[in-house]
Amino acid sequence: MSGGELARYLAARRRLVDGALRACLPPGRSRLGQAMRYSLLGGGKRLRPIVALAAAEAAGGTARAVLPFACALELIHTYSLVHDDLPAMDDDDLRRGRPTCHKVYGEGLAILVGDALLTEAFGLMATARGAPRALEAVAEVARAAGVAGMVGGQALDLAAEGTRATLATLRAIHARKTGALFRVAARTGGLVAGAAPAVLRRLTDYGEHLGLAFQIADDILDAAGGHEADGRTDQKLRKATYPAVLGATAARSHLVRARDRALAALGPLGPAAAPLEALAVHVVARTEPAAAAS
Ligand code: IPE
Ligand code: IPE
Ligand code: MG
Ligand code: MG
Repeated sequence: MSGGELARYLAARRRLVDGALRACLPPGRSRLGQAMRYSLLGGGKRLRPIVALAAAEAAGGTARAVLPFACALELIHTYSLVHDDLPAMDDDDLRRGRPTCHKVYGEGLAILVGDALLTEAFGLMATARGAPRALEAVAEVARAAGVAGMVGGQALDLAAEGTRATLATLRAIHARKTGALFRVAARTGGLVAGAAPAVLRRLTDYGEHLGLAFQIADDILDAAGGHEADGRTDQKLRKATYPAVLGATAARSHLVRARDRALAALGPLGPAAAPLEALAVHVVARTEPAAAAS
């Protein structure tokens, strides 16, 4: 898949996801609803839902069947960002190029936006009937979002601020705070598509390595201070990141290794996995100096 083909694929998938997300917002014009809309429709790349959709297709399923799960992952991801930006966490003023939710709507409402998005995510998955292994997928999403996954990783991330983290600690933070949602995105696509165990294993490995690559790339972009850095930097917060702990060159080789492992996992899945392959290539390409950040 060429760069142009990937860009068109991503744009089409983003439209599909955005349409379905819009339908998740509450009716009426309550301030909570407005704050949810502000955060949810604020220009995210929709990578986790796109991974879920692409994984379902790679496993021979349809995007439609996995769409509620894909959207649930984006609701959870958006909630995690709203809370991540709060003064008690990363204290960020900018997100997706705009003032953060709490800057516009206040801290109380931003906390509630997170609570609402998380709750709606599980409600949405509960409406997905007829997909094989749907209940299993819901349980896996809960695990990936919770203590064993994203929330636990965020707690490790906070605890590691200002400390000299080891590579093992870094890996654990990244695997949980970011890797878990990518991993479950790929698995959910496979589960809902009724993937055979060997295919599901490959999708799982792909998601895990893609998630690590994605967070290392995010660390590198943050350290470079471009428009992706979006506000308060990791350096100011003395965060445990790959460039901070290992230096720029080693961070980059870990990034490339994670991408190559993601690509290797796709192995024999064939042309149906072309979007997953192109996405992994794209994650690294975004960090290259000439890349227009997207
Ligand atoms: C940002 O994720 C936070 C991380 C886990 C690195 P994204 O870069 O996917 O954020 P959006 O959704 O596109 O804004
Ligand atoms: C965000 O990680 C990860 C989650 C919200 C789970 P970061 O704090 O490193 O990401 P940015 O830099 O704020 O997007
Ligand atoms: Mg953070
Ligand atoms: Mg942050």
